[in-house]
Amino acid sequence: MRKKKIEEEYNKKIQKLIELNKFYYEYNSPKVDDREYDAIKNDILQLENEYSYLKNKNSPSLNVGFKPSRNFKKVSHRVPMLSLANAFDQNDLNNFEKKIMNYLHQKDRLEIEYSAEPKIDGISASLSYKNGNFVTGLSRGDGKEGEDISENLKTINDIPQKISSKDFPDDIDIRGEIFIQTNDFKKLGNKFANPRNAASGSLRQKNPLETKKIPLKFIAYTFGYEKGLKISKQSEFLKKLKEWGFKTNPLNKTIKGIKNLIKNYKEIENKRGNLNFDIDGLVYKINDFKLQKRLGNVANAPRWAVAHKFSANNGISKIENIEIQIGRTGALTPVAKIKPINIGGVVVSNATLHNEEEIIRKDIRVGDTVLIERAGDVIPHVISVDLKFRDNKSKKFVFPQNCPSCGSKTIKEYNFITKKEDAVRRCTSEGFECEKISIEKIKHFVSKEAFNFDGFGKKIVENFWKLKLIRLPQDIFKLNYSVIENLDGWGKQSVANLKYSINSKKTIPFEKFIYALGIRHIGLENAKLISKNLISIKNFISLSKTKKFNDLINIDGIGDTQINSIKNFFSNNTNLKVLKELIELVNIKDANPSKSNGLFSNKTFMLTGKLEGISRAEAKSLIEENSGSIVSNVSKKLDYLIIGEKPTKRKIDAAKDLKVKILSQNEWLNMLNETR
Ligand code: IVH
Repeated sequence: MRKKKIEEEYNKKIQKLIELNKFYYEYNSPKVDDREYDAIKNDILQLENEYSYLKNKNSPSLNVGFKPSRNFKKVSHRVPMLSLANAFDQNDLNNFEKKIMNYLHQKDRLEIEYSAEPKIDGISASLSYKNGNFVTGLSRGDGKEGEDISENLKTINDIPQKISSKDFPDDIDIRGEIFIQTNDFKKLGNKFANPRNAASGSLRQKNPLETKKIPLKFIAYTFGYEKGLKISKQSEFLKKLKEWGFKTNPLNKTIKGIKNLIKNYKEIENKRGNLNFDIDGLVYKINDFKLQKRLGNVANAPRWAVAHKFSANNGISKIENIEIQIGRTGALTPVAKIKPINIGGVVVSNATLHNEEEIIRKDIRVGDTVLIERAGDVIPHVISVDLKFRDNKSKKFVFPQNCPSCGSKTIKEYNFITKKEDAVRRCTSEGFECEKISIEKIKHFVSKEAFNFDGFGKKIVENFWKLKLIRLPQDIFKLNYSVIENLDGWGKQSVANLKYSINSKKTIPFEKFIYALGIRHIGLENAKLISKNLISIKNFISLSKTKKFNDLINIDGIGDTQINSIKNFFSNNTNLKVLKELIELVNIKDANPSKSNGLFSNKTFMLTGKLEGISRAEAKSLIEENSGSIVSNVSKKLDYLIIGEKPTKRKIDAAKDLKVKILSQNEWLNMLNETR
């Protein structure tokens, strides 16, 4: 039984890997970052290690990369194209060397010399030369079989078509990396996630003329099949490659000892942001070919080489500028514009600096060399400044005292709860008077939780703003479609779609409408509370007419902060104008009154598992309509835990421990029916 479960888990992971490989290699659009990809791969390898009965032809232990796509003829490599084992720190490198010493029976007596080469993050290719002529070029494919991409490779200037040097072997496969330079990648805009995908995309074009459009480069670093190569060291081979007319990496070095490898690694890591090619680590190869031969290969990687990878979630770069972004609520957020750097497969060029205090605390300046972290979905941020690289002419960053967009004074508010000044500096203008704030307010208005117009995203808001098509939210309902139809990238059909999506959202629930107004401190939850209490937009507007804002204090969850913010909103004439026009243009649906003395009054509920025939949102509304409330964790305060299909066991156990009443879906619905 257990065996079956393990097999199931293993097969699931293999299927996932196949899918990820498809996105990476076939569509050139990775679905996850390198770290997540490596984690799945490692899980599979670990399972195989632990349970010898696990086997699959798609396992990463048997395959390198992915099968070639159907566009090109498949050709077998005369010598397989191997992959490399990874090392991440000194410990991994020590282990790598130790294994070699053991294999060679050398107890530390030998000082190994390495060829240390930057590991360009591109696409490897194998070029066959016969009698000095370039005849066939293959991609790596799965390591055994590659794709014949000769015609595309012929468009690359760095690949010599004919080599007449006397000592160039009669028959040899020269291997190296095809890549796109960082400056050329920038010119491509946002078409690809990183230079590697751009290179791969260009190389896999069916039409070589398309390949030619994206300038590809080639750097040579090894060989596959050879006949007549009279060389005994990798460093000599690299020198020869240059003499024969190939480009080699100017940062290649010959190094002895792990300590010196690490020193070189750190130097190159610091230079990484300034290089014109993307590297994801260094490759160390034992320099002596005789030793390489003795060591041989394991499965699909040589014993004599290792890739010392850079971290997948941080990288070093340089701050080129510090810009101030202005948010919907006027918050000024400093953003570091950094020299683009590839962190775990994503090219990062912005890092948030959070706020003025963070800049002061870390003394972050324009021109500084900084360590950037990008982990998961969190916005990349600066971890530390490397003062070694600071220019002695550099100046402290002066945070603007006026809003860079509208020139209004900026302030740091006093927070009555923390009894401290806020860390965030804000523009004091009244919203729509500031251009940047207006744009952000309109983005909020169209956002998913607010009006949610299909196909009307942030980019369109910015574009329409630039073209002066919109200035206030209500302008969205008065768009001049005949102008839009003639804009770049728009046509009759897309305008018809836009028109349809705007018209279809003209009816909106009251709570969403309040939220869409973007009043500070009135998020989705507060908007819901207000709508349940006031029921209609009419009552909301009359709040201001009768100056009865303070009545809102009776709503559980609404406090002084929210009330002051609503007062502020109504004290601004532009806001009044926006509101007045909007209620003419849209149909705002009244909220359902919630019974404060309903059946579930003062009772708390929690749901676990899937309910039958009713969505979670509907179940939640049912409870709320009957004056009950939903809580998100099991505690003494919970009255009922409702369980559906496949509930979370932990929640049920906790409820039992705390003697919380557990209800099945039917028991709960029966409670409701008793009163209906
Ligand atoms: S040597 C058996 N040298 O790294 C030796 N590879 O995971 C394998 N790479 O597919 C290749 N720079 O795409 C070698 N100086 C270098 C390299 C390098 C980048 C890539 C290559 C290979 C991958 C290994």
